[in-house]
Amino acid sequence: MPLIAPSLLASNFLRLEEECQMLNDSEADWFHLDVMDGRFVPNISFGLPVIEHIRTCTKKPCDVHLMIEEPEQYAEAFKKAGADMLTVHIEACRHLHRNIQQIKELGMMAGVALNPHTPVVLLQDILEDVDMVLIMSVNPGFGGQKFIQHSLVKIKELRERIDNARLKVKIEVDGGITLDNAKLIVDAGADILVTGSTVFKSQDPKETIRLLKEI
Ligand code: DX5
Ligand code: ZN
Repeated sequence: MPLIAPSLLASNFLRLEEECQMLNDSEADWFHLDVMDGRFVPNISFGLPVIEHIRTCTKKPCDVHLMIEEPEQYAEAFKKAGADMLTVHIEACRHLHRNIQQIKELGMMAGVALNPHTPVVLLQDILEDVDMVLIMSVNPGFGGQKFIQHSLVKIKELRERIDNARLKVKIEVDGGITLDNAKLIVDAGADILVTGSTVFKSQDPKETIRLLKEI
């Protein structure tokens, strides 16, 4: 059974508290929070003060996905704001090993994210150091995009590498996940599904989360 991490990017920001309560009452496992800086990705979402507020009404772990340049400058601040997991992009980190150690030393789960064009093989010398790999299945920056089919090949390859090395690294997949393709993604080897629009734009978000969990 996959873990479900709904992305609040697709929620109604005017009613953030209600949206958080809905997730608390649902079968969702984590809150997924997408931070964008307008530099690493061509969009700006929300940042530290918003996450600090969200954290006051969340009863589940907060999974923060940093789509920002120089994430090492902010790791401590995100910990203080309430992040339990912090994921940085491989494409944004010149010193990824150091960045991962920093996140772990701060007491968070450390994740590394790969853009659609970034090959899984680049993780070879960092895989045993991370807790989680996030495979982007759309180009980061926006919700509501179409799942890139080739991501399935990457998920399978990563699953094999993790299993062959007998590691416990989790695979999170983010972008374009629907009730129709979720099973394929889980069968390819995903442990955690991030879902924005599929959950928040549905008639009954809690029921949609339940259906995703059943996959
Ligand atoms: C995209 C974000 C995703 C996004 C997913 O840059 O990382 O988390 O919100 O949204 P959907 O599920 O709508 O593709
Ligand atoms: Zn995300």
